[in-house]
Amino acid sequence: MSFNEILSDVPVPALAVGTMYFGTTVPIVDAHRILDEAFEQGAWFFDTANNYAFWTDGGTGDESENCLGAWLADRGAGVRDRVVLASKVGARPVPGGTDLTATLGLSPAAIRNQVTDSLRRLRTNHLDVLYTHTDDHAVPLAETLGALAGLQHEGLIRIFAASNLTVGRLEEAIAAGATLGMSYQGLQQRFTYLVPDSSADLTPHVLLDQSIVQCCTDARMTMLGYSPLLSGAYTRTDRPLPDGYDTTTTGPALEQLRVVAVEAGLDAGQTVLAWMSQRPHPVIPVVGVSRPEHVRSAVRAVTSVFPTEHLARLDAARTGS
Ligand SMILES: NC(=O)c1ccc[n+]([C@@H]2O[C@H](COP(=O)([O-])OP(=O)(O)OC[C@H]3O[C@@H](n4cnc5c(N)ncnc54)[C@H](OP(=O)(O)O)[C@@H]3O)[C@@H](O)[C@H]2O)c1
Repeated sequence: MSFNEILSDVPVPALAVGTMYFGTTVPIVDAHRILDEAFEQGAWFFDTANNYAFWTDGGTGDESENCLGAWLADRGAGVRDRVVLASKVGARPVPGGTDLTATLGLSPAAIRNQVTDSLRRLRTNHLDVLYTHTDDHAVPLAETLGALAGLQHEGLIRIFAASNLTVGRLEEAIAAGATLGMSYQGLQQRFTYLVPDSSADLTPHVLLDQSIVQCCTDARMTMLGYSPLLSGAYTRTDRPLPDGYDTTTTGPALEQLRVVAVEAGLDAGQTVLAWMSQRPHPVIPVVGVSRPEHVRSAVRAVTSVFPTEHLARLDAARTGS
C-alpha cells in the first residue's frame, strides 16, 4: 500500500491540511468550521500528531487529535471513511515533561501505546498514515520498522512514513527496510520555496534538502513538506521571514516569485504551494490553516494549472543558479 493508493479517492490529493493548533490557539468551534470547509472542498487529507500543541499556553498535546476526533464522531462514518487521517508518534514529552529533551520515543512498546492513545482521542479504529515524528537513536531502526509493520498487519494503521530524518538516517532506514521487506512509504520534512542558510539552526525540524529529495525519489517515497507558507510571510507584512531565511538569494528569489505569481494569477503563498505540488518530483504541502479561507486559498493553489516554464524559473531563482 502506498500514499498514491491511500489518496486515490481524495478529490484534492495534492494537499494535506495541517491541524497543529486545532483545539489550542484555534478554538474547537472554529476548527470544526475549517474541517467542514476542507471536507466541502475535497481536501480530505488531515495532518495531526500526538503532541499538538503541547508547547502552547495550557496545551497538553492531546488537543489537535481530540478536536479532530470530536469532529469525526459528530460527522459520522460517512465522513471518517472518506478522509485520510495522518498522525505522528514519538515526539511527545514523557509524562511531566515540557519539552523534547525526553520523549516517548519509538520503541515497539512506546509506539503501540501511543497509537492506542491516538486512536482513542481520534475516536477511530485505524490511522490511514502513521509517521514517526522525530528520529530515535536509542532504538534500532529494524525494531521500529518491525513494530510499525506489526501495527499495519493488525489493521491499526494503513501505511507508515517518517518525519525529520537526516539523509544519513534515511539511507539507513531504507537499507534496513530493504533487508526486512518493509519500508517507510513517505517522508515529511520542512520545505518551502526559500532556501534557508545552511548554518541556520532549525532544530527540531529537518529540511527536505536536495540530497533527501534524491534519496526519496530513488526509493519511490512520497515527499511531504511542512511549514510551506513560512507562517504567512510570503504575503503578510506582519510576518517577518523566520531566522535563517534572509540570505543573498532571498531578494531575487522573492522578486521572481512575485513576477510568476502575477502571471499565474495567484498570490505569492499560493504560488509556492502550486510550485511544490506540481514539480517533476512533487512535494505535498502540509499547510497550516486557522480560517476557512486559508483552505480555499490552498485548494485553489494546488489545483491551478501551473506552466512548466514557471517551475523552471522558480527553481533557478531559489538556488541563485
Ligand atoms: N512533521 C513535523 O515535524 C511538523 C512540524 C511543523 C508542522 N507540521 C505540520 O505542518 C502544518 C503546517 O505547519 P505551519 O503552521 O508551520 O505552516 P505554514 O503553512 O507555513 O503556516 C501556516 C500559517 O500561515 C498562515 N496562513 C495560512 N494560509 C494563509 C493564507 N492563504 N494567507 C495568509 N496567511 C496564511 C496562517 O497563520 P495564522 O494562523 O497566524 O493566521 C497559518 O496558521 C502543521 O499544522 C502540522 O500539521 C509538521
